[in-house]
Amino acid sequence: MKVVDVAVPGARYPIRIAPGRLDHLDEAIPPNATAIALVTNPTVAALYAERAERALARTGRKVVRIDLPDGEEHKDSGTLNQIFDVLLSNGFDRRSVLVALGGGVIGDMTGFAAAVYMRGIRFVQVPTTLLAQVDSSVGGKTGVNHPLGKNMIGAFHQPVAVEIDTDVLATLPAREVSAGLAEVIKYGMILDADFWAWCEANAARLRALDRDVLGQAIQVSCELKAKVVGQDERESGLRAILNLGHTFGHAIESGLGYGAWLHGEAVGCGMVQAAELSAEVAGLPREDVARVRKLVEAIGCPTTAPDLGAERWLSLMRVDKKAEGGEIRFVLTPRIGQAIIQGAPRDAVLRVLERTVA
Ligand code: NAD
Ligand code: GLY
Repeated sequence: MKVVDVAVPGARYPIRIAPGRLDHLDEAIPPNATAIALVTNPTVAALYAERAERALARTGRKVVRIDLPDGEEHKDSGTLNQIFDVLLSNGFDRRSVLVALGGGVIGDMTGFAAAVYMRGIRFVQVPTTLLAQVDSSVGGKTGVNHPLGKNMIGAFHQPVAVEIDTDVLATLPAREVSAGLAEVIKYGMILDADFWAWCEANAARLRALDRDVLGQAIQVSCELKAKVVGQDERESGLRAILNLGHTFGHAIESGLGYGAWLHGEAVGCGMVQAAELSAEVAGLPREDVARVRKLVEAIGCPTTAPDLGAERWLSLMRVDKKAEGGEIRFVLTPRIGQAIIQGAPRDAVLRVLERTVA
């Protein structure tokens, strides 16, 4: 088992990575927990809830299961209320613990429910998609979407543990694997040129879920994310670089309607657009833009963005937490392995849209 530590002011927790972790979830539950709610969805529940419930039952605590509807289009305040309804009607108190079993949608909603239920209770992340294992389960960003903007309602709330069972990826649809790999290669692009080159060399094995290669990718991704979050939990600076590709990507997601493209697909395509913009305004060599496009293609993500209309693109990109005083700010990469955050002239952004939109 690999263990990566996350340390932020006031919280420290382990990310445990190993095949079969699902059967040991009881080890993640704090001894003074009074009750446990296992939050999941019908897709994941059909595959893994029974094993998770069996492991959690070993704590001797009451375990209540909450099945939320599956899909990004349900990541909203209405669905969130379903969690509170069950917690309140079952008398869950402040020492109760929530366990999020699922992808980033379940993890983000469960974490947000934990952040605000009785002003904050503890929760455990059990991520079952590659994207959630390498990104969303780590670092304490929780929340739901609003019709006017993605992830706009939320809170920082760290889990007490992240339990990564690498075996569960075997049932993940290929499209979801590709979406998760977009977040993996993102770490190389912003922080580590050697990891980027390693991803280029291993793209086919990663897509094929080669156990050794994927295990290493998950560990390195968690280590890199833990390092960034440890330095800037609340995104007052450095952490924003983790949003490479997200300014363009979030516009795709909300422009097309949540769920049309997977989050990771939008991020992959957004990375190509961010690379094009980096070549325009931050000095990224054109041959590196080509490398980005090639690797995004190799992991199976789209590289051509949808035609939302230039003005709509710009207005969607303005609804972004990095925007300041109405100015869109982008994560840009002057070279592979290094990221900066800055605005860009409107004509440069329009040229990028012309080159990348179908
Ligand atoms: P998701 O949660 O919708 O899961 C994708 C699909 O895979 C779902 O249908 C799910 O039911 C299914 N699934 C999950 N595990 C499975 C398994 N092992 N086998 C078969 N099917 C499985 O999507 P996601 O890509 O995991 O997460 C995307 C969400 O994460 C977005 O809402 C995004 O905003 C959020 N996110 C949050 C952070 C953060 O820091 N909090 C970071 C990145 C992304
Ligand atoms: N996924 C971006 C972050 O956690 O900050």
